[in-house]
This record gives sequence, structure tokens and C-alpha cells, in this order.
Amino acid sequence: MNSPVATKPERTYLVKTYGCQMNVHDSERLAGLLEGAGYVTASDGQPDLVVFNTCAVRENADNKLYGSLAQLRDYKASNPNFQIAVGGCLAQKDRDVILQKAPWVDVVFGTHNIGSLPTLLERSHHNNQAQIEIEESLQHFPSNLPTKRESTYAAWVSISVGCNNTCTFCIVPSLRGKEKDRRPGEILAEIEALVAEGVVEITLLGQNVNSYGVEFGDRGAFAKLLRAAGQIPGLERIRFTSPHPAAFTDDVIDAMAETPNVMPTLHMPLQSGSDRILSKMRRSYRSDKFLGILEKVRERIPNAAITTDIIVGFPGETEEDFLETMRVAEASRFAAAFTFKYSKRPGTPAAEYDEQVDEAAAQDRYIRLLNLCNDIVWQENQKLVGQTVEVLVANNEGKKDADTDRMSGRARDGRLVHFQIPEGQQAPRPGDFVTVVVTEAKPYFLLADATPGSTYELRRSAAGDAWDRAQTESCDVPAAPVNKDGRVLLTLGKPKTK
Ligand code: SAH
Ligand code: SF4
Ligand code: F3S
Repeated sequence: MNSPVATKPERTYLVKTYGCQMNVHDSERLAGLLEGAGYVTASDGQPDLVVFNTCAVRENADNKLYGSLAQLRDYKASNPNFQIAVGGCLAQKDRDVILQKAPWVDVVFGTHNIGSLPTLLERSHHNNQAQIEIEESLQHFPSNLPTKRESTYAAWVSISVGCNNTCTFCIVPSLRGKEKDRRPGEILAEIEALVAEGVVEITLLGQNVNSYGVEFGDRGAFAKLLRAAGQIPGLERIRFTSPHPAAFTDDVIDAMAETPNVMPTLHMPLQSGSDRILSKMRRSYRSDKFLGILEKVRERIPNAAITTDIIVGFPGETEEDFLETMRVAEASRFAAAFTFKYSKRPGTPAAEYDEQVDEAAAQDRYIRLLNLCNDIVWQENQKLVGQTVEVLVANNEGKKDADTDRMSGRARDGRLVHFQIPEGQQAPRPGDFVTVVVTEAKPYFLLADATPGSTYELRRSAAGDAWDRAQTESCDVPAAPVNKDGRVLLTLGKPKTK
């Protein structure tokens, strides 16, 4: 690799993101801050600055970071102007350990002070010394920071940060702090501003999104927020993540059912189907309450696609407990399930429990659960063959689109659809809507291929117009490569996805 510094007029950057949607959105803020400080995106794979926005939720997240940092050691040694910054949840957790393990890192910053990054980079360069800044708690709600959004048609909107729950396996509360809620007026103003720029879909974000309002004492605040956002003209799709079953009240189900632009989809983390294990996890609902919520949601919102997170191998989990998880997963008919093997997180109560489950048993359960969930996901997808779906056309969702002559996007229920444009019909732009009929179901996506007489309706949208404008403004400069989640890929070394 050549030295990028001597020949480039502006410093270039790449942000490499691990973890959940919070981090993806924080990375958009980091990009906004850096561009405000004069940096530009590295489109040639030779950035002057790499920022790692890290996750610590499971142990392999740690390994990934230290592996990536090791890859950059030699490059940094021969390019002293090249800078490396590490932020996010693992930085908040490991603090000075990062500099002990990788002294060639320039800046370490925590989850509560992403706004300091440009200053820390400058100071590190000026003093020729690594800078570390970790705040214990959040001072300002980070939505006030400049943001460079990855998409012209869909946007994340933070409504709360932090989590007041105490799930015994989870490290998140110790890294993100107590729940802080943003004022409804501020949230709605941000959504209106986004819609004015052409955004047609928003996802409301919070670690525990439906406990929104706890800080200002309004238990009904989340349902009210959904209804108020539903009134915003031009906003076509509203999603949210992640709710918690314990606080998922009927007023939220009513608001979802009665607000046409709230999408028929719900992420409802089960974690375990065993009541004994749920109690040890300190998750206050039980399996019958969980199944009851799904039943109510499906009664009010037929065809709702419900997704989940499940952990196997939590300390003390027996075969009987695991079979309970299998039973509840089978009854739940999830449209997607994110399954994890329990990972011991130092500092969490469960890490201290005796009876840690051995790796072979955890792996065996993981595979059995994965197979069950995959079968159900495919069966549920097959029910959609022959149905008409409205797809919000995406940019970069279909890896094989060029080879298969298809375009891709998400149906209202969040399912990924790859579709063909019948001959003679106009192609949509990312952000436009097409209505197509599902011709085939695959385990992880749907196909809507052009057949003689097949349905294809194109609805051009403000988001499509915004896409056109963005293309013109960028003068066809190719964007940095992004993976299927819209995250920028690091092109130093081997690109890795989550
Ligand atoms: N706030 C979200 C979850 C954040 S973490 C919620 O409550 O739903 C995302 C998922 O990671 C969790 O739902 C859980 O399934 C998984 N997870 C968290 N800690 C874990 C651990 N120690 N081991 C394995 N999986 C874990
Ligand atoms: Fe973690 Fe539980 Fe809070 Fe989710 S609700 S972030 S799993 S403590
Ligand atoms: Fe990971 Fe932090 Fe999100 S630990 S899952 S990035 S809140």
C-alpha cells in the first residue's frame, strides 16, 4: 500500500461498524462529524483514518476487533500520518486495555462522547500521543450531532438510549447507561425534516423502545408517538426496534393496527421458552405471556411478520428447558430468528453462575434450534407465493442482482424481495415503490419474476427523486463499497461482514 498522505489534499476516512442498529446509526453521526471537520469518504481503499465502532455483546466481537487492529499494525508503522480510532461499546468496556493491547491506536472514545472524535484526533496528531476519553454517562442526546445518512429513502431515528432492565446475561446497560428519552416534539421534528428531504421510511430506535416515556413519566408515550408519526404526510413506512415483551402493552398493538403506515412487522425477543430460565435471566414475562402477545398482534394485524432473538446454553439450561424453547419457537412461527449461543460477559450476573453449559451441548442445541427456525421461516415464506407485495426498492440489497437481472427491496412486512422488471416496463430508482406478485419462496427471501401477464406497478416517490438528486450532486463519483446492511466495508485487508 502506498502512503496516502503525501498525495491527498483532504484527509479521507472509513468507519467500520460492528453490532446493532444503534451502532449503525452512531456511525452515521461519526461520518457526519468527520465530514464537518473536513474529512471525505475514502473511495480508493486507502483511508487516512479508520474508525472502528465496536460491539461487546458477545465474546467474538472482542476477538474481531483485536484481529482487525493487528492487521493494521505494520501499515501504521510505515505511515505515521495514518490514524486509527476505536469507539463504541467495546471501547466503553475495555478502555485503556485497548491501548495496552494495541498501542498503535491513536484515539479511544466511549459511547457517551462520540462528539469528541474530531478534537481527539486533532489532539492526538498535535501531541503525538494516544488520546482516550470515556464519559461515564450521557450529557447530551446524540441526535443533536450532524449526521451523514447512508440511505436517501430510509432513516434511523433514535427515540431513547440506554436500558433500565437488568437481564443477567446482558452487558448493554453497563455500556449504554440508564434509559434517556428524547422529547416527542424533537423526535417528530426530526422525522418531518427527514421526510422533507425525501425519506419515506423511518425506524424508531431504542434499546428498549417501548419503555419510551419512562424518564418523563408517560407510560403511553410510545403508542402516542407511533400515532403522531403516523400523521406525518409523506411518511410511508414506520418501523421500530427493539421492544421488550414485558412492557409490550395493548395500547401499542392498537396503535400499530390503527396506524396504516406502521408496518406489519414486529421484533419480539424471546431469549428462552423456559419459564425457569426466563426467571434466571431476569426477564419478567413468561412463555404464555409471550405467546399471548403474538396471538393478540396477529389478531389485530393479520400476516404480521414477527422476528426474534433467542439464546441457547444460558447457565443451568437443561435439555428440558431447551425443549421448552423449541416448543415456544415452533408455536411462534417466526419470520426470522436470530439465535445465539450464550456468551459469558465478565461483570454480568450470569457470568458468575455455576452450572455453565458445556460447549458441545450448547452447540448441539444451537444447531437444533437453528434448523427448526429455518424450516419455519421457509414454510412461512412459502405461504406468500402468489401474493401481491409492495416493495420499497433498495440500493445494494441484492448481491446477485446484476447476474440475475433482478432488483431488490423490502416488502411492507420487512421480507427481502428480488424482483424482475417485465420487458418494456420502466425501472424504479432506489426509494421508489413497485407492486409485484411473489413467484417463488426461498429460505431467506422471496422472488417475484416476470412471467407473461405478471403484475408490475411502479410508483415513483420523493425518495426516488432524492436519489436522482444525490446522483447528480455526486457527479457519478463511485461510493465506498457497502455490504447488504448498507454499512461501509473496510477495504484494508480482507473485508468482513457481521
Ligand atoms: N435491547 C435488545 C437487545 C440488545 S442485544 C433487546 O432487549 O432485545 C441483542 C441480542 O443479543 C439480545 O436480544 C440477545 O439475544 C443477545 N445477547 C445479549 N447478550 C448476550 C450474551 N451474553 N450471550 C449471547 N447472546 C446475547
Ligand atoms: Fe440487554 Fe435486557 Fe436491556 Fe435488552 S432489555 S439491552 S437484553 S438488559
Ligand atoms: Fe453491541 Fe453495544 Fe449494540 S454491545 S449490540 S453495539 S448496544
